[in-house]
Amino acid sequence: MKTLLSLTVNGRQRDDVVADNLLLVDYLRETIGLTGTKIGCDGGECGACTVLVDGRPRHSCLTLAATCQGRAVETVEALETDGRMAAIQRGFHEKLGAQCGFCTPGMIMAAEGLLRAKPKPSEADIRAGMASNICRCTGYVKIIEAVQAAAEELGQ
Ligand code: FES
Ligand code: FES
Repeated sequence: MKTLLSLTVNGRQRDDVVADNLLLVDYLRETIGLTGTKIGCDGGECGACTVLVDGRPRHSCLTLAATCQGRAVETVEALETDGRMAAIQRGFHEKLGAQCGFCTPGMIMAAEGLLRAKPKPSEADIRAGMASNICRCTGYVKIIEAVQAAAEELGQ
């Protein structure tokens, strides 16, 4: 079965005919070509596929595209403005929150969702908010510093 999916992706209205069983991550990467969203485990374990749906972090490997009917989906590609990084991207860049970088788009989107819900998160809030995202490289300290730096910049 197929569905006419109408939604916004990164602020742009889209109408696409999709299979009912198409995963959101495959819709984003293969139908639209937004490959910033990564597939790590493909099973809800790593968070590399995190995007925002109506402003809240969601594992796109566990989400059917058809369930996003009428919703607003945001990927890491949405964050920059005219080539200028968003605060959370700058935080990761300046605090060295990325090493191999594979987890980074998912980390950034999880952090972006956290900061929208809680603009002044404590370290415990950040650890809890990022608990669904796994990084094999950084040891997490730099990631937490990146989110703290972004929160500071946004709060100024
Ligand atoms: S690819 Fe979705 S949680 Fe790992
Ligand atoms: S930077 Fe390599 S997995 Fe996180």
